[in-house]
Amino acid sequence: MIYFDNSATTRPYPEVIKAYTKVAEQYFANPSSIHTLGSEVEKLLLQSRVLTASLLGVKPMEIVFTSSGTEGNNLAIKGVAFQYQNRGKHIITTSIEHPSVLEAYKQLEALGFTVSYVEVDQNGRMNIEQLKNMLRDDTILVSIIHVNNELGTIQPIKEVGKILKNYPKILFHVDHVQGIGKVPLELKDSGVDLSTISGHKFHALRGTGILYIRDGLKIASIMSGGGQEMGIRSGTENVAGIVSMTKALRLTLEKINQGGLNHLFQLKEALLSGLRQMDGVIVNTPVQDSAPHIINFSVLHVKPEVLIHSLSEHDIFVSTQSACSSKLAQASRVLTAAGLGEERAKTAIRVSFSLDNTLEEVEIFLNVLKSIVPKLQEVMR
Ligand SMILES: Cc1ncc(COP(=O)(O)O)c(C=O)c1O
Repeated sequence: MIYFDNSATTRPYPEVIKAYTKVAEQYFANPSSIHTLGSEVEKLLLQSRVLTASLLGVKPMEIVFTSSGTEGNNLAIKGVAFQYQNRGKHIITTSIEHPSVLEAYKQLEALGFTVSYVEVDQNGRMNIEQLKNMLRDDTILVSIIHVNNELGTIQPIKEVGKILKNYPKILFHVDHVQGIGKVPLELKDSGVDLSTISGHKFHALRGTGILYIRDGLKIASIMSGGGQEMGIRSGTENVAGIVSMTKALRLTLEKINQGGLNHLFQLKEALLSGLRQMDGVIVNTPVQDSAPHIINFSVLHVKPEVLIHSLSEHDIFVSTQSACSSKLAQASRVLTAAGLGEERAKTAIRVSFSLDNTLEEVEIFLNVLKSIVPKLQEVMR
């Protein structure tokens, strides 16, 4: 099997499943319970918070454990909007965010907030000048995706953070779900106030996530209840998920720092050079400032679902757009917003690597593509 759909989700590390099982079996008590078993579980939770914080270069109290990237994005955006709506109701994002950001913005718009969308160029890169011109006295939030999940484009987060430093009343949220473990982001040095991370994108289990909230920043909670997670995210903590996610984060960052990043870039280069030699194939991922693990290309005149099924028959797994939109069989919203035209937006394929992928797999993939694409293009014409 060749699994090239790691931006949709990753295979959990065996160590992660082991840690999850151990905690679920032996440390099943509620961390809020005051008996000794509860205290032991609370200790595990605290250790995870401390280690996660040190891996991300932040303070333990700045870590809120969540259930997903979707939850983190919703909590950050609505939490800021509800908390600071008396200051103003203008919020900004880009036109190529993940649905968990765009839909949260749309919901806020329906509640009376005004939304401005920063446009992107053909590389999927945001227009910084446009952002500067959008900032107003009543702006309270800017939310930007760090690494785009379809194109792999990296946004200039540090530059935005620098601009927003002059606007202390505007909070800055970064969706770091596709960036974590692939494209470094110094949360403390980048002027970021809130940042979302999701466990299953770095070999942890689904149902886990992290929201970084800068020390001293208050946001409204959207889940009311027993006051867990510093009162920001009520609900009994998924301790087995949290402990195992912490392990996945540590392992991922270790691997990436021990040659993993170079390995991903080698895979990307090999794939790109093969794709560039193929007729009727256009690479959509920009050459510069793009993540090492996401490569988007269009196979002109071939419906992506047909190509995906054909590749599946060879035991190769890739995707079209973001996993949640991929069943809709419509042109990619992100590629359309980048102005890449309808044909490219309708025929886009996304390959996304993990550290476990090999150059040999890339070679096999290219050979299979070379054999099936001309046939499919012939049939589709
Ligand atoms: C950029 C980005 N943000 C948010 C999410 C949502 O994360 P989750 O699947 O954990 O809800 C995803 C998932 O694909 C994503 O790619």
